[in-house]
Order: sequence, then structure tokens, then C-alpha cells
Amino acid sequence: MKIAIAKEIDPSEPRVAASPDTVKKFKALGADVAIEPGAGIKSGVPDSDFVAAGAAVTADAVKDADIVVKVRRPEASELARYKRGALVIAIMDPYGNEAALKTIADAGVSAFAMELMPRITRAQVMDVLSSQANLAGYRAVIEAAEAFGRAFPMMMTAAGTVPAAKVFVMGVGVAGLQAIATARRLGAVVTATDVRPATKEQVESLGAKFLAVEDEEFKNAQTAGGYAKEMSKEYQAKQAELTAEHIKKQDIIITTALIPGRPAPRLVTAEMVRSMKPGSVLVDLAVERGGNIEGVKAGKIVDLDGVKIIGFTNVAGRVAASASSLYARNLFSFIETLVDKTTKALAVNWDDELVKATALTRNGAVIHPNFQPKSA
Ligand code: NAI
Repeated sequence: MKIAIAKEIDPSEPRVAASPDTVKKFKALGADVAIEPGAGIKSGVPDSDFVAAGAAVTADAVKDADIVVKVRRPEASELARYKRGALVIAIMDPYGNEAALKTIADAGVSAFAMELMPRITRAQVMDVLSSQANLAGYRAVIEAAEAFGRAFPMMMTAAGTVPAAKVFVMGVGVAGLQAIATARRLGAVVTATDVRPATKEQVESLGAKFLAVEDEEFKNAQTAGGYAKEMSKEYQAKQAELTAEHIKKQDIIITTALIPGRPAPRLVTAEMVRSMKPGSVLVDLAVERGGNIEGVKAGKIVDLDGVKIIGFTNVAGRVAASASSLYARNLFSFIETLVDKTTKALAVNWDDELVKATALTRNGAVIHPNFQPKSA
């Protein structure tokens, strides 16, 4: 069994799909591991570290590989180099990218989307959404602190007192919880909001204050899967009214609100942004799904009357070394389930729920039920 680690071809992607630690683990599974030269450089892992862990570094790494691991969905030029029948495992970003899925199917590889991993106990260790969102939540606060012209903690000095920064986190999933924890560690006074009632206790346990319209709709806003539902227009209006007053008094806002399969909800209007003091900073982690903040621009910092709106994409990639090592571990944990430990050969159980949930293509066709061609 040969496992290849591909170098990302997208120049904006600094992460890599393996770490020296996971290379060792793949070797212990009985695999030969090959990696493309320079694949780990932007994550702070030189080729020599991969060699020391037992990998071969070669430009031909993906040729003949049974499994190719990547961070991003491979493009046609990359697919052309893979063996037909190879397993290709990455963050595939499949929604709305049906043409790209067809290209993958046509290449004859079996593609797996790590972000479709079910959120069940067995698969927690494979959950890339959590491993990457956690780091993005952390980094969002660091970006805000960097752009903010004031200190976060309260400081009482001989020359006077610096007040603590006021941070408001909107959307308290994995990223939001880490944003709260990070802002608290930096000494900010933190408040947070979410539409799922379960988050209230989580917010309070991190030492932050919870703020939300807690009506009947709110009490039922969590789906069985633990995600948010799209809220009614009436609820959104009440929510906006409540948060508008609060936002005026905040220094920093971090937004992370998402609803599966829907555009990100609009939580902060341009008017709310303008109501903030000049020097305030907003970071929108939902920008890749349309954004929670009116006026946010993907990959840019927008200045609206002295208030900055940060719309960086791939925020986990801005902590590339940590993000890569956690992602590599997620991948290893999944691949381990695809290998027969006795024969040390690939043995994919296509009926396994993890495989069924993540497999996009096989034998030249798109097999995932969510991405069937429209005419089918
Ligand atoms: P997400 O990235 O889909 O959404 C982020 C947050 O935005 C959510 O908390 C959501 O409720 C909130 N939101 C949506 N609309 C909003 C609005 N209008 N106003 C304010 N907030 C809004 O969520 P994520 O981070 O993927 O977590 C979703 C759930 O999955 C959580 O309950 C989390 O604890 C759970 N989870 C379970 C795991 C497991 O069992 N293995 C692993 C990771 C997360």
C-alpha cells in the first residue's frame, strides 16, 4: 500500500495533509509513504523532517499511489497524475461544485470529502470542521487584536488606566467558543449570542455573558444534528433590535454564524457597523459563505468610517503549522479505518457509515446522494 502526500498547488493554501507524526503512523500501518518536495514548507515542516519520519521525498510521489492525501480538492492537472482507482482524500468543498466532482469522477479515482464526516463519537477524531474551526476562532481574535489600536486587558498603570476591550462573539459553535476563550485569555470583557439554547450554558461556563432573544422559537432552534435552523424573519428582526444597542458599545465583534446548506445569516448591518466607535474591529469568519456582516469583502480589510471589517478567508491556514498537524491527524484516523490491520492492505468497507457519508466518486461516477446530476 502506497500513500502519497501531495503539495498544494493553490498558492493561497499553506497547509499540508501530513505531519512527521502521521507519516510514522502510516509506516506503522505497513504503508510506503511518499511526499512531493516542499509540501510542508509553508507549514514549517522541511522535507528532511518527513524523510526522518520515514517518507520518500519525490516529485513522482502520487504516481502509483493507492491513496493520495491533500488539503484541497484536486484540479484536473493534478488528477491526470493519479492512478485510476486511487483513493483521494481532501477537504473537497463539494457544494455548488458539481462540475469539479464530475472531473474527479471522470479521472476514475474514489474521492472522499473529509468535511462530510458524520459528527458521531467514533468520528470525532476525524472531524476537520472542528479541528480547523477551533483554530480559526482563535486566530480571528488574534487578527482583531492586531488591527485594534488599543490593549485587550484592563491595565492599571501609574500613567492611568486602560479599560478592558469589549468583545462580542456572534455564533457560538466550535469557532465561536474558541473565540470566546481566546478573548477571555487576553483579558477582554466578552459577551456572546447564538440561536441555539444549548450555547447559553457553554458561553457562561467560559466566563462570558449570554445575550439572545429567548422566545419559543429560540427554544426549538437546534436541529437533531446539533445545528442551527434558519430563523424566521420575525425572530431575526427581534434579534437585530436586541443586538443593535449592544453593538454600539462594543470594540470588537467576531461573527461565526452558519446554517448548514444555507447562505450565512446577515447579523450586522452597515448601520450597526457605523454605530461603533472609530477604531473598532469586526472579523467575519462566515465570509466564505456570504458573510454575517454587511459590506465584508473576502480576503480584504474594509474600512467603514474608521471601523475595520476583516474578511480573511482560510483563517485556519493563518495558523498553518497547527492547522496542518491537526488535519493530518484527522486524515490518519480516517485512513486507519480503511486498512486491514492483519494483511496491511487497503480494505475499504463501502457500507461503513463513515465511508458512505464521505465518498463522492467511485468507478467513474459521482456516487454521493447529495451530488447526483440534476437529470438523474
Ligand atoms: P456552524 O459552524 O454550523 O455554526 C456556527 C454557529 O452559528 C452555530 O452555533 C449556530 O447555532 C450559530 N448560528 C446560526 N445562525 C445564527 C444566528 N442567526 N444568530 C446567531 N448564531 C447563529 O456550527 P459548528 O461550529 O459546526 O457547531 C455546530 C454544532 O455541532 C454545535 O452544537 C457543536 O457543539 C456540535 N459539534 C458536535 C461535534 C460532535 O459531536 N462530534 C463536533 C463538533 C461540533
